[in-house]
Amino acid sequence: MALPELLNKAKTFGQEKLFNFYEELTDEQKKILLTDVQNIDFNLMQDLFKNLTNTKEETAETEIAPIPCTDATSMCEEERKRLYDKGLQVLGEGKMAALTMAGGQGTRLGHTGPKGTYDIGLPSHKSLFEIQCCGLKEVSAQAGCKVQWYIMTSHINHKDTVEFFEKNNYFDYGKENITFFPQTMIPAMDRDGNILLENKYTVLKSPNGNGGLFASLKNAGLFEKMRDKGISRIFICGIDNCLVKMADPLFLGFLEDSGHKAVAKSFIKRTADEKAGVFCRRGGKPTVIEYTEIPLELAELKDDAGVWVYGDTNVLNYIFDIDVAESLAEVGMSYHIAVKKLNCADFATGETVVIPNGYKFELFLFDAFSQLDSLGVFRIERKEEFAPVKNPTGVDSAESAREMYMAIHKEEN
Ligand code: UD1
Repeated sequence: MALPELLNKAKTFGQEKLFNFYEELTDEQKKILLTDVQNIDFNLMQDLFKNLTNTKEETAETEIAPIPCTDATSMCEEERKRLYDKGLQVLGEGKMAALTMAGGQGTRLGHTGPKGTYDIGLPSHKSLFEIQCCGLKEVSAQAGCKVQWYIMTSHINHKDTVEFFEKNNYFDYGKENITFFPQTMIPAMDRDGNILLENKYTVLKSPNGNGGLFASLKNAGLFEKMRDKGISRIFICGIDNCLVKMADPLFLGFLEDSGHKAVAKSFIKRTADEKAGVFCRRGGKPTVIEYTEIPLELAELKDDAGVWVYGDTNVLNYIFDIDVAESLAEVGMSYHIAVKKLNCADFATGETVVIPNGYKFELFLFDAFSQLDSLGVFRIERKEEFAPVKNPTGVDSAESAREMYMAIHKEEN
C-alpha cells in the first residue's frame, strides 16, 4: 500500500499522528514507517482500546472452581519409573520436540540482551540458554535420540539470539538441531488510544505475549516441518527457569498414560501473593488465573484443612499434542493489558519521552487451555524444578536461582 491509502486508513482510525514526521524522513525511513503502518491491524487496536476493562470483569463474573491434579510428589517409585520409561521410549522414537519461549523482553531483570544470554553467576558462567542445552544433551543421550530444539524469539532479540548461538558454536548441540523463529509484535498505545511511535519513523511495538506461540509456529510453517520429522508432541517452557527438566520423560510418560492432549506442571505456592499464576477451572474449562488478575479473596482461600484451594501454581511448562497445538493457532484469544512506563517519541517534537501509563497488550498461552475439554495438571516438587530468574536481586533472582541450581547440580555447574 502506498502513502495516500495508508494515511487515509490511519485517519479513519484517528491514528494520523503516526505520519507527523513523514515529510522530514529519508527514503529509507519512509519505507520503514510505511511497512510498520501496513502491518498494524487497526481494527484490532481499536477493539483493544474499547475493551480495556474486560479482563477484570471476566475474572470477577465467570464461575471459578478448583481443578484436579495428579500429584507426582507422592507417587511411588515404581509408578514414577513406569511413566519415565514410557516417556523415554517415545522420546527415543524422536516424537517430542522441545520448545523454549524466549521472545519476552525481560524488563524486570534489567538485562539488556536476550534473557537466555544471562549469566546467573555459576562457576562455569553458563547462560540460561546453555543450561537448557545441557539438559537437552543429557536427556537426548538417555533416549538415544537428539531432541529437536525450537526457540521462539521476537524481532527485538532474534538477531542477538542467533548470533549468541553462533558465537558459542550452538553449544555443540548441532546447528541442524536448533530452529529459531520470531513471534508476532503488537503496537503499544497511550491512554488516549494513540498508537505510539518509538522514533519519528518506527511504530513502538512489543512481543504479543507467549500466547502468540502457536500462531507464530504456524506462520513460520513449523508444524508441517515438525511432522515431517515425525514429531507429534511439543514440550514447551519459558527461558527463565534454570531448573526446568528439558523434555522430561516422566512428564511425557504422564501425557501418554493419561490420555490428555495437553499437560501442565504445577507446584504448591508459598504465599498467597506469589508472582505466579494458579490453575483452576473457569466456566468448567481448565485455565490459569494470572497473579496480576486474581482477586485477593481467591488467592488467599484455604479449605477446612488449611490447604490452598487455588494452590497449584503454573510452572510455565507444558506438553501439547501437535494437532491440538495447531488447532489452537486458529483460535482467537483475548489480549491482556499491562499498564507500563514506556519510552516513546513525542508526537510534537519526535524527542524520546517517558509516559508513565502506556498500554501494552499480551496474549497468554495458558488461555488456550480453555479450548480443551481436559488438562492434566502434574504437581512436581518445587525445589527440584522451579528456580526462576525474574529479578536482579532478592526473590526469584539470579542469586536465589543459582543457589537452588548448585544444590541440585553439585558435581557439574
Ligand atoms: C509466567 C506465567 C505465570 C507463571 C510464571 C512462572 C504467563 C503469561 N505467565 O509469568 O503464570 O506462574 O511464568 O514463572 O505465561 N515470553 C515470550 N514472549 C512474550 C512474552 C513472554 O516468549 O511476548 C516468554 C518469556 O521469554 C519467558 C516466558 O514467556 O520465557 C514468561 O514470560 P514472563 O512475562 O516473564 O512471565 P511471568 O510474568 O514470569
